[in-house]
Amino acid sequence: MRLLEPLRVGPLTLPNRVVMAPLTRCRSAQPGNVPSELNARYYAQRAGAGLIVGEATQVCPEGQGYLWTPGIFTVEQRDGWRTVTEAVHAAGGRIHAQLWHVGRISHRSLQPGHAAPVSCSDLPSDGTCFAFDEQGKPGRVKCDTPRALRTEEIPQVIEAYRHAARVAMEAGFDGVQVHGANGYLPDQFLSSVQNRRTDGWGGDVVSRARFLLEIVRAVAGVWGADRVGVRLSPHSGDDPTGKDLEWREQHLEVARQLQREGVAYADLVNYAWAYGREGFDEGFIRDWRTLFRGALMLSGGLTREKAEDLVARGLCDACVFGRAFIANPDLPERFRRNLALAKGDETLYYGGAERGYTDWPRAD
Ligand SMILES: Cc1cc2nc3c(=O)[nH]c(=O)nc-3n(C[C@H](O)[C@H](O)[C@H](O)COP(=O)(O)O)c2cc1C
Repeated sequence: MRLLEPLRVGPLTLPNRVVMAPLTRCRSAQPGNVPSELNARYYAQRAGAGLIVGEATQVCPEGQGYLWTPGIFTVEQRDGWRTVTEAVHAAGGRIHAQLWHVGRISHRSLQPGHAAPVSCSDLPSDGTCFAFDEQGKPGRVKCDTPRALRTEEIPQVIEAYRHAARVAMEAGFDGVQVHGANGYLPDQFLSSVQNRRTDGWGGDVVSRARFLLEIVRAVAGVWGADRVGVRLSPHSGDDPTGKDLEWREQHLEVARQLQREGVAYADLVNYAWAYGREGFDEGFIRDWRTLFRGALMLSGGLTREKAEDLVARGLCDACVFGRAFIANPDLPERFRRNLALAKGDETLYYGGAERGYTDWPRAD
């Protein structure tokens, strides 16, 4: 198989295997975190991707950890997203919504009533989120210590995902991706270090996977599992509170469960390839592929050459590109014509308007 050949993912036929990664750009319209015409233009420019996975979109107010990220739970947000999906479809593309709850990766200033963020346990992250600092300027701030969700609150969070999945359907998306990667709430539940629960939502690999599984079931109940994908980042680095020694076993259990649910695809982000940190090896990918028979996508620091190699060797079905899509809206076409790639400006990744967002030209 080749990178620029089509791929069936559930009922969708992707014209190529170059998938656009979800990319938070913090440019929704205010107030209300509503997707806008500007966002629609940005996504339509990238419609040549086999599949676009839209930027992470919070499923409820508590799910937000960055300023100006779009939500997917109000009527205004639904209508804003409809502008985006219509523009992508008019340009010939396909787009999934990435459903997001940040859990402990947040700050009180972003939370309703300035309450503490929620997580599986009350362990703080030593990471940062994007909020107003003490001087009232937007920037990276230390995450606040979360409080552990009460047992009776967990079904309400799952309900928020179900609601968001319905809103995504009304907004005209082609499917949804559950964000189970990068240290956000479902990933917090998966971690043997962060998840200290003893109430059936933590304890062993099966109980720790339960939160993600229940979310997948809820959104598949809305969409059908063949229009649902899951993003994961097995072994995505050390937690300040300790090493997750069970990451491999944990994620192989998730593979088994996603296979049972019949989800269309999984995207595994490899932190070793993306950031030169810990990550997973080819043996892990092969084990995953044996257990999970849906489409497998891989991400993290991929080049065209590496992606071609992964697909040719059958390690994955599609390859996911993040940063390359920021500065190269017509990335698959550049691959097809063997053209050089432009490099994005990191200072313009988060926040702002057209600059560094919709002003990247096509190659021709
Ligand atoms: C500006 C920026 C925003 C990102 N936002 C998201 C996001 O919303 N959801 C997500 O799952 N990953 C997000 N990521 C991670 C990317 O999807 C991707 O996995 C990562 O950049 C590694 O792939 P790459 O080397 O091809 O860029 C983001 C990365 C960047 C650079």
